Amino acid sequence: MQAVKSRSHGLRPALNLLSKPTVKRSWNRLLYKLRDEVQTIQQQGSDVIPSISCKDIHTAPKSFQDELRKRGVAVIRGVIPESEARAYKEEIEAYVHANPQTRAFPPQDPQVFELYWSQAQMRARLHPNMLQKQRFLMRFWHSHAADAKISPAHPLTYADHLRIRQPGDAGFALAPHVDGGSVERWKRPGLEGTPSSRLQGATPGYAQALTAVLHPHLQLDKTMVNVPRIAPGDYVAWHCDSVHAVDKLHQGQGDSSVMYIPACPATEENASYVRRQKDAFFVGVPPPDFPGGEGETNHVGRSAEADLQRSVDAQASQSLGFQPLDSNDAHLTHGEQSVLNAANRIFGF
Ligand SMILES: [Fe+2]
Repeated sequence: MQAVKSRSHGLRPALNLLSKPTVKRSWNRLLYKLRDEVQTIQQQGSDVIPSISCKDIHTAPKSFQDELRKRGVAVIRGVIPESEARAYKEEIEAYVHANPQTRAFPPQDPQVFELYWSQAQMRARLHPNMLQKQRFLMRFWHSHAADAKISPAHPLTYADHLRIRQPGDAGFALAPHVDGGSVERWKRPGLEGTPSSRLQGATPGYAQALTAVLHPHLQLDKTMVNVPRIAPGDYVAWHCDSVHAVDKLHQGQGDSSVMYIPACPATEENASYVRRQKDAFFVGVPPPDFPGGEGETNHVGRSAEADLQRSVDAQASQSLGFQPLDSNDAHLTHGEQSVLNAANRIFGF
C-alpha cells in the first residue's frame, strides 16, 4: 500500500533566488552527509525504516516521528484488520475471474491489474483507519507560511491500481525510481515551456529513473533495502520524492499483493485532478493519470456511487470530492481556508 503522493510543489521560487556558489556549497554539504547515511543504511538494513503499530500512532514516540520525517518512509502495522485485508484480495480475485476482459501486465502471466474501481479497493481506500493514518502522515510535511495554499490535514484520495505478484515472478520488476513527477517538478513553466536544459534520467510526464551511472553518490547498490517484513493489512507509506523499486525476482513462498493507496494534500491542482477522477469513477474508466481505454466500464460488480452513499463517512466522501471539505475549522490558516474554499468550488459546491 502506498501513500503520500503529492502533486504539489513549492520549491521553484526559492531555487530561483540562489546563486551558483550557494548551490555548489549546498551540493558539497549534501555529498558529505550522504556518505554518513550510506553507512547507516548499510549497518541497519531494513531496520532503518521506522515502523509502529496502528494503535500507537497518536502516542508515537519522538524517535519514530524523527525517523519518519528524515526517511520519508514508514510502516504502520495493522491499519486494516488482517482478516479484512485477506478478504479484499479474495474478493478482487473473484472480480477478475468474473471479468476476464480485465487488462493486466504482463498479459501472459498477469501480476499487475488495471483495476481502480473494485468494491474492495474502494473500501480499503475509504476505511476510517486508512484516512486517519493518512491524515497523520500528511501533517509531517506542512508549510509554516500562513498564506500557503495547501492543506495536508485534508488528504484527497488518489485512485491507483493493484498487484498480486506470484512467487517466482520476474516479469514485474521496477528499477529505482521516483514516482512523483519528473522534470516538470523543477522547471518553469513546466511542460508548456521549452525543457532546453536536461535533468538526468527524467522524461517529462514519467517517473524519474535513478541509476548508478547517473546518480553515483546515492550508491544504490548499498542504499536500496527491502521494507521490513509486513503482514496483510499493514500500510507501507513513502513520500512521493522517495526512491523505491520492486525486487527483480519475487523469492517469497506466497503471493506478494499490494493495493496502492496514495493520498495527496488539498491544493487547487489536486482538487482539479480529484474532480476529473470522480468523473472517471462514474463511468468506470481509468483515472486521468493512467492508461485510458474502457477500463471497468463493463465490469460486473464494480463500485458504484450508491455503494459509497451507503457505506462511507463524511471524511471519506470529502476525500473523493463527493462532499465539501470543511473549511470552517478555527484552527485553519488563512491559506488553508482559501484552498479548501477553492477546492469546494472546483468540486461544484
Ligand atoms: Fe513507483
